[in-house]
Amino acid sequence: MPLDRLAAVAWYRRNRARSRALFDLLDEDTYYSRPIALRHPIVFYEGHLPGFSFNTLIKKGLGRPSIDPRLEALFARGIDPHESTVGADGSSRAGGAGRPDGWPARDEVHAFADEADRQVIDALLKDDVDQAGHPLLDRAEAVFTILEHEAMHQETLLYMWHRLPFAQKRKPAGYQPRVEGAIPGDDWIEIPAGCATLGVARNAHVFGWDNEHPAMSAEVQAFRIARHDVTNARYLEFVEAGGYRDPQWWRPEDWSWVQRDAVAHPLFWEPDGGRWYWRGMFDLVSLPPAWPVYVSQAEAVAYARWRGARLPTEAEFQRAAYGSPGGERTHPWGEAPPDGARGVFDFASWDPEAAGSHPKGASAWGVEDLVGNGWEWTSTPFGPFPGFAAMASYPEYSADFFDGEHVIMKGASMATAKELLRPTFRNWFRVRYPYVYATFRCAT
Ligand SMILES: [Fe+2]
Repeated sequence: MPLDRLAAVAWYRRNRARSRALFDLLDEDTYYSRPIALRHPIVFYEGHLPGFSFNTLIKKGLGRPSIDPRLEALFARGIDPHESTVGADGSSRAGGAGRPDGWPARDEVHAFADEADRQVIDALLKDDVDQAGHPLLDRAEAVFTILEHEAMHQETLLYMWHRLPFAQKRKPAGYQPRVEGAIPGDDWIEIPAGCATLGVARNAHVFGWDNEHPAMSAEVQAFRIARHDVTNARYLEFVEAGGYRDPQWWRPEDWSWVQRDAVAHPLFWEPDGGRWYWRGMFDLVSLPPAWPVYVSQAEAVAYARWRGARLPTEAEFQRAAYGSPGGERTHPWGEAPPDGARGVFDFASWDPEAAGSHPKGASAWGVEDLVGNGWEWTSTPFGPFPGFAAMASYPEYSADFFDGEHVIMKGASMATAKELLRPTFRNWFRVRYPYVYATFRCAT
């Protein structure tokens, strides 16, 4: 199917408008700050998004000349969570006049971004960006690469914004976290043995990242899985039972982390005067008991062990989410496109909502919130499917992370764009990375 140019331009503009809106949430004086120590300062990301699009589609794809080689080099490589490499902090800094750490003035970033946007939109409208057999442009790969890259970054920007002091953020008018909701029951669901599709042939869908290819399926034995994500209320039982002080629940390297960093509770929780609070995007709220708990995979594994359970594998998640007695589906709820009744995703909220509040998004087996309201940790290390080949438009996207230190997350969070909600999409992070909108559920 040929590229729908107008749809691509509309998506690009939608991405750019949303990115601008996200940067506009912040006070000007945050621009050179670094909300997460291992990440670049905020200025980097405002240049990186258009810079990556320009570099990938216009320079590498179409072979056109630079706008500004110094800025293109400065903004080339994001060290964001889906690209996390501990220790790589700041390695792409370059010289510049009069700004902290040598970063350019904001006007200079905007002028570069405007020219990059102009050339990208012009190319999407008029140039030969869909060329069979071209390494980067076959099936318009570079077009979808830049579109999904920006959408994914919007979520990673929000992880960073989340860490900034409330006084440095402008809360949108009328926004209030939806803290209400009853704590859902502790139901377990039997999933029968069957086959789970994990990967897809490149030519069988419009676009996927290299780690989704080629076709791959797995036999899954019968297993049990919780109907709901682990809530703050249930996780609090583990905290109050001394879970963070007992090495028997933790893998050795995770226990070292707990001790070294004095980890005593989820990063999103804050104790005050004997009570627990949740650090939301714009508000500190009394810990909402029914919200899914957001934790690192290390903490999820410890909780599951304490409960006498484990995390699901990637294949089990896939079977629970997309399997059905009559074959696999596009979404847990079936073939209907994603909408707000099915789950909390596509920037529907700045914070989670109660687990179990979107039963219309349940899978064929009745498992709820599999897509939306927080990514879900699995026990499966991030790795390639047999026959993997790095994609020409972004060769380091996956291959740099097949190191056994990253694990797969599936599903989506409130800050995951609807365009990324496809069954084969895979996300990954380090096991002790605590900043992401990620929850979990138990399996046995
Ligand atoms: Fe990036």
